[in-house]
Amino acid sequence: MKFFLDTANIDQIKAANDMGILDGVTTNPSLVAREGKDFRTLVEQICRITSGPVSAEVVSTECRAMMTEARELRQIAPNVIIKLPTIAEGIKALKICVAEEIPVNMTLVFQPLQALIVAKVGAKFCSPFLGRLDDIGEDGMKLIHDMRQIYDNYMFETEILAASLRHPFHVLEAAKAGADIGTMPYSVFEQLWKHPLTDLGLEKFLSDWKKLK
Ligand code: G3P
Repeated sequence: MKFFLDTANIDQIKAANDMGILDGVTTNPSLVAREGKDFRTLVEQICRITSGPVSAEVVSTECRAMMTEARELRQIAPNVIIKLPTIAEGIKALKICVAEEIPVNMTLVFQPLQALIVAKVGAKFCSPFLGRLDDIGEDGMKLIHDMRQIYDNYMFETEILAASLRHPFHVLEAAKAGADIGTMPYSVFEQLWKHPLTDLGLEKFLSDWKKLK
C-alpha cells in the first residue's frame, strides 16, 4: 500500500518525506485555503519535495474551465495529477484529459458506480471518501471492498486512493480491503509507527543499560 499525505502543509510534507515513506501528496481546495498561500507556488514547493504524484484540484465546475485549469496546473511539474470532482462536467473533462495524457484523480466518490464510471473513462486514481460516509452513518469501508471487487472483475488499472481516512484503523482496514493507496492527514500518518509498548520497552532497555554502566 502506498502512503500519501493529505495536506498542503510544507513542513508536514518535508517531515514525512524525511522518513522515507512518503509516496505522494493529495491536496484539496480546503487544505490549500488553510495554508493561506498562493496555490501555484504551494504546488511547486510540494513537487520539489516529492517526486511522487501530487494531486492539485480544479475549482471550476464547467468542463472547458476545468480543462483550462488542468492544463495550467500540469505545467507546474511532471508529477502534478489533476483532481476533478465526480460530476458530469468532471467526467467530460476526464475524457479530454485521458486523450491529452493528463493523469487524473477523480475525487468526491461516495458510491461504487461512480468508481466504475471513472475507471471506464480512464482515471489514473479514484478517491473514495471513507470518513465522510462514516460521518453520515454509512459504512465507508464497504465502498473500498466494492471497488476492489469491481476493479478486479474487469481488470481496471485505476488505483483506489482511499481518502478521508481519520484514524490508523481506517488505514489498516483500507489496506486489508485492497486499497492501492491511503491518503491521510499528518496526525494519522504519525500514529502509524507508534505503540506505547515500543516506548515503554525502549525506556526499560535504556534504564537497564545505564545500570550496567
Ligand atoms: O482530500 C480529500 C479527503 O481526504 C478529505 O478528508 O477528513 O476532510 O473528509 P476529510
